[in-house]
Amino acid sequence: MTIDKQHRRAAEERLKHMHQQLGGFAYGGDYNPEQWPRETWLEDARLMQEAGVNLVTLGVFSWSRMEPSEGLYDFAWLDDVMGILHENGIGVDLAIPDAVPPAWLIQQHPDILPELADGSTFGFGSRQHCDVSHPVYRAKALALTERLGEHYAEHPALRMWHVGNEYGPVSYGPWADKAFREWVREKYASLDELNAAWSTDVWGQVYSDWEQVHVPAQPRTWSNPSRRLDFHRFTSDSMLRHFTAERDVLRRHTPDLPIVTNFMRFFKNNDYWAWAAEEDAVALDIYPDPREDEAHIAAALNFDLMRSLRGNQPWMVMEQATGAVSQWSVNVSKLPGKMRLGSYQAIAQGSDAILFFQWRQAKGGTERFHSAMISHAGTNTRIFREVTQLGQELKNLPQLVGTRSTASVAVVFDWDCWWALELGNSPRSDLNYPAEVLRYYKHFFHANVPVDFVDTKTDLSSYDLVVLPASFLLGDEAAQRFTDYVAGGGRLVVSYLSGIVDENNTIRLGGYPGALRTVIGAWSEEMHPLAGDAEQVKLSFADGGTGSAGYWTEHLHAEEAEVLASYGSGRLAGFPAVTRNRFGDGSAVYISARLDEGSLDRILREEWQQADVEPVIDAPRGIQARRRSGGGRDYLLVLNHNDAPTGVDLADGGTDLLSAQHVGGRVELPPYGVLVIEEDPK
Ligand code: GAL
Repeated sequence: MTIDKQHRRAAEERLKHMHQQLGGFAYGGDYNPEQWPRETWLEDARLMQEAGVNLVTLGVFSWSRMEPSEGLYDFAWLDDVMGILHENGIGVDLAIPDAVPPAWLIQQHPDILPELADGSTFGFGSRQHCDVSHPVYRAKALALTERLGEHYAEHPALRMWHVGNEYGPVSYGPWADKAFREWVREKYASLDELNAAWSTDVWGQVYSDWEQVHVPAQPRTWSNPSRRLDFHRFTSDSMLRHFTAERDVLRRHTPDLPIVTNFMRFFKNNDYWAWAAEEDAVALDIYPDPREDEAHIAAALNFDLMRSLRGNQPWMVMEQATGAVSQWSVNVSKLPGKMRLGSYQAIAQGSDAILFFQWRQAKGGTERFHSAMISHAGTNTRIFREVTQLGQELKNLPQLVGTRSTASVAVVFDWDCWWALELGNSPRSDLNYPAEVLRYYKHFFHANVPVDFVDTKTDLSSYDLVVLPASFLLGDEAAQRFTDYVAGGGRLVVSYLSGIVDENNTIRLGGYPGALRTVIGAWSEEMHPLAGDAEQVKLSFADGGTGSAGYWTEHLHAEEAEVLASYGSGRLAGFPAVTRNRFGDGSAVYISARLDEGSLDRILREEWQQADVEPVIDAPRGIQARRRSGGGRDYLLVLNHNDAPTGVDLADGGTDLLSAQHVGGRVELPPYGVLVIEEDPK
């Protein structure tokens, strides 16, 4: 994704200005004063200062308080809260509460509630209960945005706008249906073009009138994957259109303030490349599950993705938990030190904000057991002590804000690929795109080789190695871009299920992976998913090594490519499994099977080593190291994700800004320990 230079500069200026006003990192969280009496607001402001809070997100779910009945706006309470916060030096990230259309609005227009594919409707009582294509909902949300923009434009506490909350609801209702038809008409010049793009001759679905085109509501059985792919695109576009309309209103009132919305971890419904380009910064809500041993690796992937979405611009942790969440079957609290570790992990990977959901743990409502910066038990708690410690530490690190990191490996993460891969009607129905990407990402994470994520439109010229994991859909331009990249000297690694379909989700003929067959110098005759979870086949490497593969295999033929590994058992025994092809001045590896971790490691390691890519540091498993640079200084952040002390060799020394000690050589990090080293000048 390429972002217009002028837009990028303006966004960066807005952020710089905001961080200058905050004095460094943004630190704080969602604040819901409407749940508490006024005395508590005063106590909150005092405690926020104690905890080092400098920014709170206000009003995310406050539509029914801001507009208690139609057209009657009440900002008096909000003026009061904002005044108290301002007097105490706390900035405000003011939300546009469009995620919660109030009861009176739903009463007037029940068809605002989104319809599910089966025609049933969600009831009122949760949130995100709206069809963004509903004209009254849109108009009312925009009118409130206008009022808030007008009223608070000059407020001295206002630092940033937070539009909506976790955009994502899909609707199959009448308004979405109409908007989808309009979207389709705009995309396709004629019905013939539409019929061709959607392969409507299959199962006799030819359209002869635009009015016959509808959202893909619950079909009797399987339904058209090209149509459903367009519906994904439409859904993301229609929500984005709503976001940008609100953003434009706010921009008019406050041209110098950043405007963001909050993204989610591995969120499929919205194409975040397109979304990020419309914001001033990317903001993420991240809730790693403490029950999962590798939750920090999936978090790392999401952090790198967020950093990459706007081309390496600092991003924000908009929400995280201090302890437990309340939405899972078992809500395990974070172990002592883990919240701090996760926060520094985000910082190491480019975040300039550490914000939580939420400031004060609610006493009632759905999330009354969700942790917060202040727990039910009050401030004499481990959590408040950890929150305060982190807030005070961050105050001392303003020099890190705005610094950036670089990567010379790119991994493709693309929403079209995600949508198309998981639409079903393919050789397996349990395909999971993020899990495929994670499998590749993990190698780089453990090796401490930083990666950028790219979509299939990104310029690849600055990368020494590009990895395409399960990049199922490649348009002609994308296929050409990857081919040119290799011809020009780049190294490409392509996994199975890449380049299988074109932009209409129709198969590229002549052997898989059609889009990349020339560049990989090999072709696959037939896909052979393995039936049982436990089914494995052996692999024999050309150098005598062995390995195994499961889940996915292919009947591969090498043409120009050299064979790096072959299937050693099963119906494909003797056929190539992994190949490498010299093409132009570069090379492309093709991996036709889901390899065991060791085999994948050896293949990927060889590629980055051959490309002269260097890890940040060589460190034992569980140690994550990242460098951020700026203002002529380099900052090395070293994190111990292990629950045991772990030794690290630091070739170059520097000052650990957290302990103010000089460190170098062999250093032992305690469990979940962190170093933020300002490296000695070289
Ligand atoms: C987020 C949401 C917050 C809060 C949080 C709980 O998805 O934006 O409002 O509900 O989850 O973990």
